[in-house]
Amino acid sequence: MTMQEKINELLSLREKARLGGGQDKIDKQHAKGKYSARERLLMFLDEGSFEEFDMFLTHRCVDFGLENDHPLGDGVITGYGTVNGRLVYVYSQDFTVFGGSLSETVAQKINKVQDQAMKVGAPLIGFNDSGGARIQEGVASLAGYSSIFQRNVLASGVVPQISVIFGPCAGGAVYSPALTDFIMMAKNTSYMFVTGPKVVKTVTNEDVTTEDLGGASVHARKSGVAHFAVNTEEEGIALLRELISYLPSNNMEEPPYVPTNDPINRLEDSLNSIIPDNPNLPYDVKNVIGAIVDDGKFLEIQSSFAQNLVIGFARMNGMTIGIVANQPKYLAGVLDINSSRKGGRFIRFCDAFNIPLLTLVDVPGFLPGTGQEYGGLIVHGAKLLYAYAESTVPKVTIILRKDYGGAYCVMSPKTLRGDINYAWPSAEIAVMGGSGAAEILYGSQMKKIENDAERKAFLDAKVEDYREKFANPYVAAKRGFLDDVIEPRNTRFRVIRAFESLKNKRQENPAKKHDNLPM
Ligand code: HXC
Repeated sequence: MTMQEKINELLSLREKARLGGGQDKIDKQHAKGKYSARERLLMFLDEGSFEEFDMFLTHRCVDFGLENDHPLGDGVITGYGTVNGRLVYVYSQDFTVFGGSLSETVAQKINKVQDQAMKVGAPLIGFNDSGGARIQEGVASLAGYSSIFQRNVLASGVVPQISVIFGPCAGGAVYSPALTDFIMMAKNTSYMFVTGPKVVKTVTNEDVTTEDLGGASVHARKSGVAHFAVNTEEEGIALLRELISYLPSNNMEEPPYVPTNDPINRLEDSLNSIIPDNPNLPYDVKNVIGAIVDDGKFLEIQSSFAQNLVIGFARMNGMTIGIVANQPKYLAGVLDINSSRKGGRFIRFCDAFNIPLLTLVDVPGFLPGTGQEYGGLIVHGAKLLYAYAESTVPKVTIILRKDYGGAYCVMSPKTLRGDINYAWPSAEIAVMGGSGAAEILYGSQMKKIENDAERKAFLDAKVEDYREKFANPYVAAKRGFLDDVIEPRNTRFRVIRAFESLKNKRQENPAKKHDNLPM
């Protein structure tokens, strides 16, 4: 063979590999409203930046007819490229090759990019679209899954890992995404469950559709498994690129700095009147966030799950920060099981990746009731508390209004190593609300008052006493539990200055094998 012939052979093999399971299967994929594995990578990565690995790798199975069918590259496309010029590693399961099922060689390819991402400290993004374990390969495939899980766990907290679900993801296959930092699902074309509708019917006699069991809406709203649910793959890929722009490439780096024209000292007069005079009325904490961050830009995470707590990324003076905020507009901003899990995991992500935390507090306490207690509110609430207490990134807290009871102890107070804690003049900090406190403190005295009207007048007076004493930030400020009481319209520049002052913060936890987070 001449050199030219050899080159032609290479080019034709490449051409063949690029077709995966064949044009007819790619057409089928399109007909379902899905892009092919390769199209997804080309859309996601900067133009011309994709470098592919293992294009010629083939499976080793010699059973069930597979010995005569060896698609080049097998069921996944792997490699690296850039997103806005920054290195990322990728894999994209190819549904056109045996339904994207995971063979021993598919696992080997995924392991390679996992190892490489760890070696050089770059994020790993996986596009999932697969029928699960390759049935013809049996245990070799199952072992492949475990080899991926092991690497997911070792990479956790070292490089950001993001799972995109753009098709089926069932059985044990769901556990790789679950081990990663963020999960994105596409509405109507993706689903995740441990056991599918047929097994559910056999075991529990429930009739449930694929979408109702594990579709994007279910996981974005009910289970909280999905951090993002998108309408189309294009929308998802744009969001993915935006998400990555907030993150450092690994745990040894700071998040990227993005210069802003939004003035640091911008005063936001609207904040002086955002808190209603009646403390029982709600407002939208996202309006507070929008008013103080650079250009009003906020990337919310898990926006449809546990909406009583808002989490997400923004920038202040160009610096990425993670925001955790009680949402008075939803369940009065109460803390419960789901919001505690949501907040705890986010705080731990931020802490692992050097992202400072801004906490905006307006919380009436933890949600009472058997539903919460039987569900383990004690343990789940402890997760949020644990996450704040162990974190060593800069932490700035602003108490906007209510900060009551156990929730005060959890929401990044100074005694959980909050670095700078401010309150607005509207802050109310106490063990509990006025009426609850008066009922407990004066219950026995009230019993002695027989006349209903007199008893009510007595209670109202005590409630008013209690509110007068504690419904302000100055009791806390007098004791040093706050660093200052600030005018709401000054919040942006006070927070920016606070974070600037904490830039060189160094804090270490005691050496240990690992912690024992409440589960
Ligand atoms: C081998 C598979 C496959 C698999 C699909 N295919 N899943 N091949 N192993 N797991 C093949 C099909 O035979 C078919 O081949 C092609 O992929 C496309 O599949 P279709 O069924 O035609 O596609 P569709 O109708 O869209 O249905 C997709 C599907 C269905 C819902 C995913 O294929 C399905 O139910 N597959 C089996 C899922 C499953 O039970 N997997 C094992 C789960 S247990 P042809 O040649 O016809 O194109 C598991 C354990 C993991 O994964 C444990 C980890 C610890």
